[in-house]
Amino acid sequence: MILITGANGRPGSATVREFARRGTPVRALVRDPKKAKDLRALPGVDVVHGDMLWPETLESALAGVDRVLMISGAGPELLETQCTFIDAAIKAGVGHIVKFSGKDSVDGFDNEKFRSTRSHEQILRYLVASGMPWTLLRPSQFMHVYFEEVPDIAGSGELRLPLGDTTMAPIDIDDIAKISYAVLTTPGHEGKTYPMTGPEALTMTDIAGHISEAIGKPVRYRDVTSEEKRRAWLAAGYPPPRAGAFAQLFQERSRLGRSSVDLTTHERFGVEPTTFAQFARRYADVFRGATDYAVTPA
Ligand SMILES: NC(=O)c1ccc[n+]([C@@H]2O[C@H](COP(=O)([O-])OP(=O)(O)OC[C@H]3O[C@@H](n4cnc5c(N)ncnc54)[C@H](OP(=O)(O)O)[C@@H]3O)[C@@H](O)[C@H]2O)c1
Repeated sequence: MILITGANGRPGSATVREFARRGTPVRALVRDPKKAKDLRALPGVDVVHGDMLWPETLESALAGVDRVLMISGAGPELLETQCTFIDAAIKAGVGHIVKFSGKDSVDGFDNEKFRSTRSHEQILRYLVASGMPWTLLRPSQFMHVYFEEVPDIAGSGELRLPLGDTTMAPIDIDDIAKISYAVLTTPGHEGKTYPMTGPEALTMTDIAGHISEAIGKPVRYRDVTSEEKRRAWLAAGYPPPRAGAFAQLFQERSRLGRSSVDLTTHERFGVEPTTFAQFARRYADVFRGATDYAVTPA
């Protein structure tokens, strides 16, 4: 049996949907069953409840599991959550952990410099040292993060980010889900690292242009300072540590300035890379502000 953790979240729910689409049974771990209504309606999906920080809640979730896609949120508890989960998986006799990590597309980005990216590196070291067979997925920024800018886009026709002329190479989560499915269901991936980005390095002016074309309304990029953006995130209700961490991350991206595209993993698994224009068209109603984006759309 294959288990996917973080199954109510963005990449987790997309990968569960990919299993359902392919007709392959899968087990989905969620900590909040109330949020899992859409997952439960999918064919072949066994939704189980548990908290990765509390091993005693994981016994039935881990029973009979050969392989896990390990995902949890990027918050301050990331390191403790995944190391605790790895210990529980070893105890339960799991045979292979596919760790969901990240890779900033900006050239020269140092993963050890920021809490969440550093935590991913520390977890990887813990996983490798544990002796558990592992595989590492390293996707770039998700295209879906631009949904967080919908209030500005729909309200005032502006995409406001502190990025100047910096390029990013965001990836569609559905591409990641297809690659995750292949890694989880075929042999030969032990000890391998799979980096992946979207197919284009885009300025924020390019991204605003694609959104504008998709929604049929002008959207222009407005460069703001990271302090202005931090205040906007706070006003939008982001917890202060999250707003502060994002501001630091964007400052670094802006300082480094240029992203590279890496499609080797798409090519390796025969996945056609989704362009931002295709993504924006698919989610035009979300960018118009007409539809809330549900993490687990029915
Ligand atoms: N955002 C990006 O652009 C990006 C790019 C590359 C990689 N990543 C990585 O992708 C991963 C997912 O990030 P995301 O922003 O997409 O997060 P997300 O949508 O919030 O998904 C994370 C999921 O993990 C679950 N979770 C957290 N702690 C848990 C626990 N103790 N027990 C059980 N489930 C738990 C959450 O459950 P609840 O639903 O109950 O909160 C949530 O459903 C992170 O590790 C991040 O570093 C993100």
